Amino acid sequence: MAKMEVKTSLLDDMIGVGDMVLLEPLNEDSFINNLKKRFDHNEVYTYIGSVVISINPYRSLPIYTPEKVEEYRNRNFYELSPHIFALSDEAYRSLRDQDKDQCILITGESGAGKTEASKLVMSYVAAVCGKGAEVNQVKEQLLQSNPVLEAFGNAKTVRNDNSSRFGKYMDIEFDFKGDPLGGVISNYLLEKSRVVKQPRGERNFHIFYQILSGASEEFLCKLKLERDFSRYNYLGLDSAKVNGVDDASNFRTVRNAMQIVGFMDHETQSVFEVVAAVLKLGNIEFKPESRANGLDESKIKDKNELKEICELTGIDQSVLERAFSFRTVEAKQEKVSTTLNVAQAYYARDALAKNLYSRLFSWLVTRINESIKAQTKVRKKVMGVLDIYGFEIFENADNSFEQFIINYCNEKLQQIFIELTLKEEQEEYIREGIEWTNIEYFNNAIICDLIENNQTGILAMLDEECLRPGTVTDDTFLEKLNQVCATHQHFESRMSKCSRFLNDTSLPHSCFRIQHYAGKVMYQVEGFVDKNNDLLYRDLSQAMWKANHSLIKALFPEGNPAKINLKRPPTAGSQFKASVATLMKNLQTKNPNYIRCIKPNDKKAAHIFNDALVCHQIRYLGLLENVRVRRAGYAFRQAYEPCLERYKMLCKQTWPHWRGPARAGVEVLFDELGIPEEEFSFGRSKIFIRNPRTLFKLEDLRKQRLEDLATLIEKIYRGWKCRTRFLLMKKSQVVIASWARRYAQQKRYQKIKSSAIIVQSYIRGWKARKLLRELKHLKRCNEAVTIIAAYWHGTQARRELKRLKEEARRKHAVAVIWAYWLGLKVRREYRKFFRANAGRKIYEFTLQRLMQKYFLEMKKKMPSLSPIDKNWPARPYLFLDSTHKELKRIFHLWRCKKYRDQFTDQQKLIYEEKLEASELFKDKKALYPASVGQPFQGAYLEISENPKYKKLKDAVDEKIIIAEVVNKINRANGKATSRIFLLTKNNVLLADQKNGTIKSEVPLGDVTKVSMSSQNDGFFAVHLKEGSEAATKGDFLLSSDHLIEMATKLYRTTLSQTKQKLNIEISDEFLVQFKQDKVCVKFIQGSQKNGNIPTCKRKNNRLLEVAVP
Ligand SMILES: Nc1ncnc2c1ncn2[C@@H]1O[C@H](COP(=O)(O)OP(=O)(O)O)[C@@H](O)[C@H]1O
Ligand SMILES: [Mg+2]
Repeated sequence: MAKMEVKTSLLDDMIGVGDMVLLEPLNEDSFINNLKKRFDHNEVYTYIGSVVISINPYRSLPIYTPEKVEEYRNRNFYELSPHIFALSDEAYRSLRDQDKDQCILITGESGAGKTEASKLVMSYVAAVCGKGAEVNQVKEQLLQSNPVLEAFGNAKTVRNDNSSRFGKYMDIEFDFKGDPLGGVISNYLLEKSRVVKQPRGERNFHIFYQILSGASEEFLCKLKLERDFSRYNYLGLDSAKVNGVDDASNFRTVRNAMQIVGFMDHETQSVFEVVAAVLKLGNIEFKPESRANGLDESKIKDKNELKEICELTGIDQSVLERAFSFRTVEAKQEKVSTTLNVAQAYYARDALAKNLYSRLFSWLVTRINESIKAQTKVRKKVMGVLDIYGFEIFENADNSFEQFIINYCNEKLQQIFIELTLKEEQEEYIREGIEWTNIEYFNNAIICDLIENNQTGILAMLDEECLRPGTVTDDTFLEKLNQVCATHQHFESRMSKCSRFLNDTSLPHSCFRIQHYAGKVMYQVEGFVDKNNDLLYRDLSQAMWKANHSLIKALFPEGNPAKINLKRPPTAGSQFKASVATLMKNLQTKNPNYIRCIKPNDKKAAHIFNDALVCHQIRYLGLLENVRVRRAGYAFRQAYEPCLERYKMLCKQTWPHWRGPARAGVEVLFDELGIPEEEFSFGRSKIFIRNPRTLFKLEDLRKQRLEDLATLIEKIYRGWKCRTRFLLMKKSQVVIASWARRYAQQKRYQKIKSSAIIVQSYIRGWKARKLLRELKHLKRCNEAVTIIAAYWHGTQARRELKRLKEEARRKHAVAVIWAYWLGLKVRREYRKFFRANAGRKIYEFTLQRLMQKYFLEMKKKMPSLSPIDKNWPARPYLFLDSTHKELKRIFHLWRCKKYRDQFTDQQKLIYEEKLEASELFKDKKALYPASVGQPFQGAYLEISENPKYKKLKDAVDEKIIIAEVVNKINRANGKATSRIFLLTKNNVLLADQKNGTIKSEVPLGDVTKVSMSSQNDGFFAVHLKEGSEAATKGDFLLSSDHLIEMATKLYRTTLSQTKQKLNIEISDEFLVQFKQDKVCVKFIQGSQKNGNIPTCKRKNNRLLEVAVP
């Protein structure tokens, strides 16, 4: 919403006229009356065009509040009643918006309110310019530099309780946005004579009083000061206290400001040390002392103060003492030392104090500049604020060099005012060919020339005198002035050649008078030369340089012996002239804004308007001429190009581009806008606008038009922005919707899932709890049963135990009683027989007796001698257990031996054979167990007995081992035929059973193997060696009841004869060689129809089956 702007004007509710240009009739009286009327109504500001006249109200008015700042912010100059803020705003805005460097020139007499005005300007600019932490810090530092400089550079004077005793020009630097970046302060000539001497009713610089009133005891002690003004010679006593000024609280303000500006603690400390040293210097006093050579010499009266100063500043006391007593003059090669008399010593002391203080002040300015200087190197815009000491006239010819310099400066400022406003304005009209009525005004260039002319100027004279060899005094200087300036209109002197003033008794001989633009000032010539020379003896500057105090050392660089410069330093006058020239040059490059301060009375009092005093100021300030020039001329002018550029949007022909000369464009523009002709004139290169109101009208139109244009741009931009935003939103909406749906579905799914899980978990939980309850119940029941049973068993057991215990106790008791009784009886009976080891003997004896009994009984109970008898008497005594077992073993071994010993050799042989048989067949052949009980008889057939076998017996001459009838199995059909089987030492023989005819004879060496079944049959095959004679008919397949015996004997005989083990194969299936064929003999489980006899059957030419029942 656009703010409803209430159009106001300077003309609203006006008291008198706010702008003197509007004054009718225009003369001195009406001018003063207007000012007075406004002053009486608390209107202290009045305009002359763009110049602000400010009358010091000498009381605080409620017109500087933040609300007022807001009111004047961004308003046109003539829109509101005159105010210093309007000027500040105008200057700031044209700096910010039109990129023009500005300067604000504040002039007026001492006490007219210049310093206050400069502070108001700065605070207004600080309030309206950019904000932000960094900017605020810069602002704060810029503003806080004021209290510091005021404390050190201001003093109470008769005209002003807070009079600036130095000139100050401050450049505030801004960036392109109008935010402050920093600043630079230039200071001009501090009135340092005040340090050592103050006129009546005046004070030294504020800082001295502030320290003594405001510093803590501790701090004062550190500075070796006492809280007593009267202790210090340099402090004028009569007006040490100023009404309404609280030095103590100001001291705190200053320290705080120093901190904000960026002074380090040690720096602040050093500064106050220097201040203290200056104050104490004033207390050093000298007394004369005559020396032998007749020369006067001075001596320090009381060295205590000197000592303290030296301690404070780290100067060697003897060095300083010497510097106060001697002066060394160095010519090219020579060094001449002269003693100082008392006056010279005082002069040296004061010079040192003044120099120390003024250099400290310059150092402070430099130090502040260091803190507030702009950091960045971007292009800057500058607003300069000049607050220079005002025009000053003392009564009674008390004006000295300082006033001369101050007034010269003001003269120059008036000059620049004239140049920039009056003269420049009129000259411009002529240049531009504008019709114009000339206005008379006083140009003070002639006075400036009187003072600053390089050859004949007063300052040049003074310098010449100072540099001249020979005796130079203030009087010789005055003489010279009298010669050179005698004819100058504005110079007056009693002694001048032109004797215009010879009889002017109001002009003393030692004075000269200058008619300044602001009035006549009489200067006392005394001290001019000295002050201009500003001499400090080299001994002193060297002493200072030697100080063990970094600040003091830095203040006196010329004291460094390595940098001795024999050239004289520039004089104070020429220095000041140069710096004023620089300042003027600087101001000329900027757009000037004037504040002309007027003092309403000499009493520093509110509500008093002294017409004569104001009239005087108006006159010399040339304000009336200012109004006249203003009225005759044009309020505003501007070159055609920027004017067209600025307003071209107000007219269709010139917008957006004007092709053609700028002047023609402006003509078209003004014509189009219908501005009355008398309101403007066309100059050669500029348009002149008579009335500010016309300009404001133009500005308003422009503003309106700009707003329209802005609206148009905004409209199109907004349309475009809305459309892109809409498209983007549409696209985004689709994306968001898809995501949102997905998300919602996910959520739903998760919710269902989690609900299912919850329901499930509840059911499971419920089931589990149910089960748990049942189980717990069951468990409890079981436990209860167990517990009951346990209790019941326990009770029973305890009862039983109790009973048993009782019984046992009783038994035990009985036994014990019995034992005791028996013991008693035995002891009674055997007491007479017992010796000490009778017990043991009885024991051994009993043991022997028992053993004896055992063995005797054992003898009776001995079992039979049969090794297989397993009987053994029971063990009678436990302790003989191992003996009993051992006895059993020994007995058995012995019994076996006895048994073996009965055998004959024959029997042994039989047993050997039996053993052999056991090894060969046990567990292999089912027939074996039956053979164990049968004795091996060998010769079953008694061949020698039977005559049938006589022939056979003869044929066999060897011993017959086996003679038995066997069945020979026919190879062809399996039928058995009886044969006699004979085994001799070397052969196996088969013979006919009927007649004993030998059928076959096989040497044992040709028998390779015997095969048989594992079963309970008597079949066996005798395998013959292949290729042997016997083998032609094939192997024998035989059957015998004594198979085991026969096989064993065959084996044994073969072993003993051929030393080879006969191979005995036990298998239910083996091969037998019949003539050429190999026939398999297979044993099968047969039926029992033939009784217990196995049957043999030839199944085919390869298989012979034996059925074993
Ligand atoms: N605008 C003002 N409002 C109130 N008092 C003012 C104003 N201007 C000046 N004064 C008073 O006048 C005194 C002198 O003003 P100052 O600015 O120091 O004078 P100058 O710098 O011109 O010598 C101030 O100390 C203050 O008391
Ligand atoms: Mg001042």
